[in-house]
Formats: sequence, C-alpha cells, structure tokens
Amino acid sequence: MMISINPFEILAETVSPIFMQTFVILMLVLIVIGTLLDIIHKKNVKYFFDNAKKAKLSATKSLTSGERISVISKTIISDIATTSELGTGKRRAAHLLGMYGTILFWIGSVIMIFCYSNPSSSTPTFWPIIWHLGALMTVIGGGWFWFFLRVDVYSEAQPWYRVIKADLFVLALIASSFFGLIWSYLQFLDLNERWDDKVFLVLFIISNLVLFGGVYWSKFAHMFYKPGAAIQKNLADADGSRDNLPPEADAPKQFGLGITRENPKHY
Ligand code: HEM
Repeated sequence: MMISINPFEILAETVSPIFMQTFVILMLVLIVIGTLLDIIHKKNVKYFFDNAKKAKLSATKSLTSGERISVISKTIISDIATTSELGTGKRRAAHLLGMYGTILFWIGSVIMIFCYSNPSSSTPTFWPIIWHLGALMTVIGGGWFWFFLRVDVYSEAQPWYRVIKADLFVLALIASSFFGLIWSYLQFLDLNERWDDKVFLVLFIISNLVLFGGVYWSKFAHMFYKPGAAIQKNLADADGSRDNLPPEADAPKQFGLGITRENPKHY
C-alpha cells in the first residue's frame, strides 16, 4: 500500500538524505526571513504591542497570573486549536481540515526526512500514513475553501478561476500536498525507466519553494499572528480594557426583519 510507504526512503536510493535535510532547513530559514521582512514592512508587531500597552491603561481590573494562565489556556484550546473565530459551519470545517492536514504533513515530512531517509532504514508505518493522510486533508480542506468559500467567489460573484495575489498561500499549500501525493503514488508504482514520478517530484519541490519562499507576499504568517492576536483579545476582554472598544449594549437585539432574510455573506 502506497499510504504505508515512506516516499523519502525510496527517494534516498537516488538522492542523498543530506540534500533532503538541507532542503527542509532551507524552507525553515525562508519562513523566518519572510516573516521577519513582513513584520518590518507592515510594522504590525510594533502596532500590536503599542496598542496592547495603550489598551492596558483603560483596564478596569488587573489580572492575577492564575487568571492570565487560565485565559491563555482557554484561548489555546478554543480560539487557536479549533479556530473558533470562524464560527460554526463550512468555513471552520474546511480550515480545520487544511490546518491539521498541513500540521500532520509537515510533522510527517520532518520525521521521515530526518529519521528514516536511509535506503536501509525501516520507517514505522505510522509516519507514512500521517504524511499521506495529512496531504489528503490539506487538498480537501484547501480545495473546499478555494473553490467554494473564498470571499471573492462566495460573496463577490467572481468566477472560481480568477487567481490573485491573495491566493498565493492557499494555492501553493494545496499544490505542495497534491504534487507530493502524486509523486508518492507514481514512485510507489515503481515505473523504473519512466519519468513521470520525477516530473511530480520537481513540481513538489517547486511548489514548496513557492510556498515557503512566498511568505513575505502571502498569508502564510497568519498562522503565527492569529494566535497572538487571539490571546491579546481575550486578555483585553478579561481585564476590561476591551482594546478600547465600547462594551456590548445591554439591550435586546432588534435589527429589523431584514436581518433574517439572508445569511450575512457580503463583506
Ligand atoms: C498550520 C496552520 C495553518 C494553516 C495551514 C492555515 C491555512 C489557512 C488557509 C489556506 C487559509 C485561507 C487563506 C486565504 O486564501 O484567504 C486560512 C485562512 C484563515 N486562517 Fe488559517 N491556517 C493555519 C493556522 C491558523 C490559526 C492558528 C488561526 C487562528 C487562530 C487561523 C485563522 C484563520 C482565519 C481567521 C482565516 C480566514 C478564513 C476565511 O477567510 O474563511 N489559521 N488559513
């Protein structure tokens, strides 16, 4: 079964594991450089801390460290691990599929490349299964989002095939998992003299270069910013500063009949 075979172990018959390991390290370096450049360019982290400092001034309550730990743990369990910001429904389901798929795919890649990429090593079947399953989840979750849920298609009636810079992250993410899966499958078929698996290996490499090399231009870094912002928001709720926003009105929710006519989807 292809799903239980470590594709990097087969690859190691022709490509030295050192190359694969260097590639992974290079991708990590690209993430760090791209994110730092993004932070310098947008000044978002500076704004974030300035804003948090300013909000603190209007705090009505000072939190004990126990309370802070409790708020932060709740944020990790709910806001971050289940992306509760996306409410209930398709958007959240698609994001969870893609997010956990990607996490499994990346962990599987690192473990197999660093621990089991010798032609002589025998990989526990757990890891290839995690890798293939992760890739599949990413393709399904990412594809669901891109074809059906992305704002410009879902709410702005743009055709599904319109590609803009904002699609860089999701498309490169889907492509890397998709090409990885096809490469693994073709390599597993052991076509020897044929070249198709190599074509998909090259596509797999290119899509990874685009994904990790594109961090500065793409939405990649949201996976670091979002958790930070969620923690700050919940702390600001707990200490009463509410990021200097007015408190919720203490009045019945009366928005008129129009509000029930259609689900909100025009942003
Ligand atoms: C490995 C981690 C993650 C991956 C692979 C991932 C993947 C994605 C992708 C592909 C998109 C669609 C981007 C677009 O084209 O608009 C997205 C959007 C989003 N992500 Fe993530 N994400 C991750 C972590 C997180 C975390 C930790 C949070 C929140 C705590 C988060 C919150 C969001 C939100 C709010 C959106 C906008 C969704 C929408 O427009 O429907 N993500 N994410």
